[in-house]
Amino acid sequence: KKQKNIRNFSIIAHIDHGKSTLADRLIEKTGMLTSREMQSQVLDNMDLERERGITIKLKAVRLVYKAKNGEEYLLNLIDTPGHVDFNYEVSRSLAACEGALLVVDSTQGIEAQTLANVYLALEQDLEIIPIINKIDLPSARPEEVKKEIEDIIGIDCEEAPLISAKEGLNIDDVLEEIVEKIPAPKGDVEAPLKALIFDSYYDSYKGVICYIRVFEGTIEPGMTIRMMSTGKSYEVTEVGVNTSKHMSLDKLEPGDVGFVTASIKNVKDARVGDTITDHKNPTDSPLPGYKKVIPMVYCGIYPAEGEDFNSVRDALEKLQVNDASLVFEPETSVALGFGFRCGFLGLLHMEIIQERLEREFDLNIVTTAPSVIYKITKKNGEVLEIQNPSNLPPEAEIEYMEEPIVSASIMTPTDYVGAVMELCQNKRGTFLNMEYLEEKRVAMHYDLPLNEVIYDFFDALKSKTRGYASLDYELKGYMQAELEKLDILINGELVDAFSIIVHEEKAYERGRNIAERLKDVIPRHQFAVPIQAAIGSKIIARETIRALRKDVLAKCYGGDISRKKKLLEKQKEGKKRMRQIGAVEVPQEAFLTVLKYD
Ligand code: GTP
Repeated sequence: KKQKNIRNFSIIAHIDHGKSTLADRLIEKTGMLTSREMQSQVLDNMDLERERGITIKLKAVRLVYKAKNGEEYLLNLIDTPGHVDFNYEVSRSLAACEGALLVVDSTQGIEAQTLANVYLALEQDLEIIPIINKIDLPSARPEEVKKEIEDIIGIDCEEAPLISAKEGLNIDDVLEEIVEKIPAPKGDVEAPLKALIFDSYYDSYKGVICYIRVFEGTIEPGMTIRMMSTGKSYEVTEVGVNTSKHMSLDKLEPGDVGFVTASIKNVKDARVGDTITDHKNPTDSPLPGYKKVIPMVYCGIYPAEGEDFNSVRDALEKLQVNDASLVFEPETSVALGFGFRCGFLGLLHMEIIQERLEREFDLNIVTTAPSVIYKITKKNGEVLEIQNPSNLPPEAEIEYMEEPIVSASIMTPTDYVGAVMELCQNKRGTFLNMEYLEEKRVAMHYDLPLNEVIYDFFDALKSKTRGYASLDYELKGYMQAELEKLDILINGELVDAFSIIVHEEKAYERGRNIAERLKDVIPRHQFAVPIQAAIGSKIIARETIRALRKDVLAKCYGGDISRKKKLLEKQKEGKKRMRQIGAVEVPQEAFLTVLKYD
């Protein structure tokens, strides 16, 4: 096995442009699995991932390819998550490669997310191979898309393979391009060990499994390794690669991509981006770019009525074992009791965790509106970082507040420029500039407050542009803003779980919107239920749920007992999903309405 016959690459693509389908074809072509053995999408192994059709966790697979020049090559395909929430993981997996396939859907062209990932790849000096996909579709316009890639990214597309990943057309061209264009890895086998962790997860049998790229030195079972960010050491139990299954090897050398297991108990000790070295003969400089990921979005997660606080904690702990970017700590809410404040990389990450709690752990949970981290400077000079609106100090003590701002790129057909501008304006965006990508497509750049982006920006963008626009953003910094705490009172009682921090310009609109929505989702009671939105002691919106007149059972009067029982049963079912707030029963979905907005 020689370094010169190794190729390490990732696939960069916008969601739905065909990354997983191409990966499948490459796997199939290189004979790793027969199509029959292959589950529809090998690289996306989590159920949830498959259902959502997006790649969450990255993995690596080794392919063996006999090229037209007669030589055999080891191709390490490293999967990358395609979503903005997981940008850091994308950058680390790209750092493990020498090249990247840029898959562009020939009916769509380049999207914001693709471009963001291309920039990450260019930063790592990767060789980028453009691949034009979906040429089987009648609406394909490969020549235009090639020109677009050349104009925007400045890479030559003359030899770009035109493929149909779905129909398996011209996949050989892709494999040949990989062998010809992507540089072989280089690295000194005699130097002290230097390996990059680009993914890690917890396996209940083997403990933490780290996916690594070796840059220098050798890693083998029995040796003691050290994590450079924490200084902790572990003994290596196994190294190997993934082909169609785990395959143990006696060592991994420079250029190799594979897995390592050691006596590591928690993924927190095997952080993505960290450098592994030899404990006895350590390197003096870690690989560049290690960054501890910080959550951007927070929300409260509470057990639903009847659920156990401890089982929610156990579930969160279990999820955290596999997800070093999930953070949580206990908190209490007047309305919801004991629960947890959880931090996530972004909204998608938050949704995934919520869904996993419900599905994998069979828990009924209530989540509060997501919040970002605000910086509060008090009159006494103290600076606080707050992600729970309930912890906001009284207004009289606040000198000023700052909110996180992201720089966003939106790519859209020119037809929707007006609609996008209106939306961004409405979301308190600051227009920076706009550039033409091709005759009928532009990239627009805005600074936007993150708290506006996390509400429904993405949905609104999609609906205003019929799904044609794409969005990418990254944190830029903090900026002073006129922010207020908006409270919701139900039947006169302040429900802390509904409190949000809003810009003063938005307070009235949001307050009214939430009150209206709550009116629709909270069932009628025996008495009238007022719903109020308030800033401090000032009521800014009010709705009333009228009192119920008929008894549910009245309908069954004289009916047979089993029917009555069924109805009661049904009511009980319904009740489980309710939260008692004072005398009022509030369904769980009410807690989500605070997020929605139109
Ligand atoms: P994420 O995993 O969500 O990032 O998406 P992806 O980029 O991996 O896309 P995926 O491979 O799941 O493909 C998205 C859709 O496009 C699927 O319905 C595929 O069947 C379809 N598709 C992929 N390649 C082709 C192609 O060459 N032609 C046609 N017609 N459809 C394709």
